[in-house]
Amino acid sequence: MSVHITVEKTQASRIEQLDKNRLDFGRTFTDHMFQMHYADGAWQQAKILPFGPIQITPALNVLHYGQAVFEGMKAFYVDDKTINIFRPEAHHARFNRSCRRMCIPETSYELFIEALEHLLHIDAAWMPEKKGTALYLRPFIFANEDYLAARVSSTYAYYIIMSPVGAYYAEGFNPVSLTTSPEFVRAVPGGTGEAKTAGNYAASFLPAQQAHAKGYTQVLWLDAREHSYIEEVGTMNIHFVIDGTLITPSLSGSVLSGITRDSVLKLAEHWGLDVQERRITIGEIMEAAQSGLLTEAFGSGTAAVISPVGTIAHEHEEVKIGNGEIGPLAKRFFDAITGIQYGELEDSFGWTHTVHL
Ligand SMILES: Cc1ncc(COP(=O)(O)O)c(C=O)c1O
Repeated sequence: MSVHITVEKTQASRIEQLDKNRLDFGRTFTDHMFQMHYADGAWQQAKILPFGPIQITPALNVLHYGQAVFEGMKAFYVDDKTINIFRPEAHHARFNRSCRRMCIPETSYELFIEALEHLLHIDAAWMPEKKGTALYLRPFIFANEDYLAARVSSTYAYYIIMSPVGAYYAEGFNPVSLTTSPEFVRAVPGGTGEAKTAGNYAASFLPAQQAHAKGYTQVLWLDAREHSYIEEVGTMNIHFVIDGTLITPSLSGSVLSGITRDSVLKLAEHWGLDVQERRITIGEIMEAAQSGLLTEAFGSGTAAVISPVGTIAHEHEEVKIGNGEIGPLAKRFFDAITGIQYGELEDSFGWTHTVHL
């Protein structure tokens, strides 16, 4: 069954202003967006319309209480007639999990994929073609009742916007440097860390600023109870290679369950690697680095796919990992995942949803 989506096309396409050689993440948006409203207990009025400002009132409850969720995923150019969306089902399942935690009504996958396909057809000209580039897809839902009471909203707005993004590694892999935060945590057990909700990011900005001021790229988050177990990085999950074993911190309830993390684990299992998904302390990592057993550390996330980690600082110690290049295992994951995304390698996991233009 197909969902009814009304379409209002723009009379003033901005495509002429697009320079596909200069794409700045999240600043340029395609001509159209998807919009839907929730009222009277149902999602309704699915529509594709020109991208543009939306009118809100100062009393809009999301502005005050932050009841909002989002997803971040990508679509890739395969050829002039084919676009691959990477793991939309997994992203949508997480979108609904985030909705449940934030008391936001869930949405159907059928509508989600239909809206995405429709948008990709209409705005296909915005798709950058070069390897490494993509269309970033941003579905989000926010509470939009004009009511200042601190309680669950009765109305919501659901949007999908799309942004062409440049190659993350246009200038080669630059390993990132991470530091733990002596003071702050990202998420607590029972809190909202597992949800992709706005407030988690707002809460991470101050510690991230402090890390930048000390010369580090991102914060390596430790658990809230013991401030000892490694959870994740700014907007990535983390993986370590110790003495040949791939170690990934387990999902603790306060870690975002990354789709790229899951792809790494599924590939590792498929390749028969020695894999451990378990709790791991910062002490174990610092020790393994000092003894030379920690040969690789890398983040995983939609933005960069795989991001090598070159430095980790904790308290008064700092360790270097690798030789300033991407490690062999990190490279193997990067090549396999991007190969599947761009349709160059066989997608034996069924991860890509192919859109035929
Ligand atoms: C806090 C956080 N952790 C991890 C990730 C990586 O998740 P994914 O691989 O689904 O992009 C993200 C990015 O979405 C994130 O925001």
